[in-house]
Amino acid sequence: MDNIILIGFMGVGKGRTARALAQDTGLVAIDTDDLIESMAKKKIRKIFADQGEPVFRGLEQKVADWLNEHVTGTLISTGGGFHQVENLRDIGIVIYLHGRVEYIVEKIMAHPNATKKIKKRPLLSDIKKAKELFDSRLPQYRKSADHIIDVEGKSVAQISSEIIRLLKLERRG
Ligand code: S3P
Repeated sequence: MDNIILIGFMGVGKGRTARALAQDTGLVAIDTDDLIESMAKKKIRKIFADQGEPVFRGLEQKVADWLNEHVTGTLISTGGGFHQVENLRDIGIVIYLHGRVEYIVEKIMAHPNATKKIKKRPLLSDIKKAKELFDSRLPQYRKSADHIIDVEGKSVAQISSEIIRLLKLERRG
C-alpha cells in the first residue's frame, strides 16, 4: 500500500487526524516534525532559533528522501511547509486538510494549551504574518494534493471516516 500523506496549515489537525486514522485502521502513523527532531536531536523551535528556517527546510527534504526510500503503507502527518519538498507526490497519496485560517486560529486560541501550541510553532507567533503565509500557501496546498478534505466543523473521527471512505481503507475489526 502507498503511504498516505496529510498536508495543510499549522494547527489544522494533521497529527490528530493521523492518530485517529491509525486507531481506526491499525496502520502506523508517523510525523515529519518528530522525525526531524530525532534526526537533529533538537526541538523544532530550537532549530529555527539557532540555525534558521533554511536549515529546517533542508531537514524536511532529508526526511522526504528517507521516507521515499524506506517507508511504505504508513500514515504520514507533516509540518505545514512540508508540501514544498521536491518529491512529495513520490512518497504517497497526498491529502490536503483544508480549513480557513480564521477557523484554524480560533481553534488554537480556544485550546487550553494555546500558549504551548504557539510556542511550538514559531511561524504562528505573529497572527498577521501567519494569515499572509496561509494566503500564499493555499494555492500550493491545493496544487500539491491528490485529494482535498474540508475539516471545518468536523471532529477528527469524522475526518478519519471520510478518508477511510475516500481511499477505501479497511477498518480495524
Ligand atoms: C511549519 C509548521 C510546523 C513546523 C514548523 C514550520 C510551517 O508544523 O513544521 O514550525 O512552515 O508551516 P505544524 O504544521 O505541525 O504546526
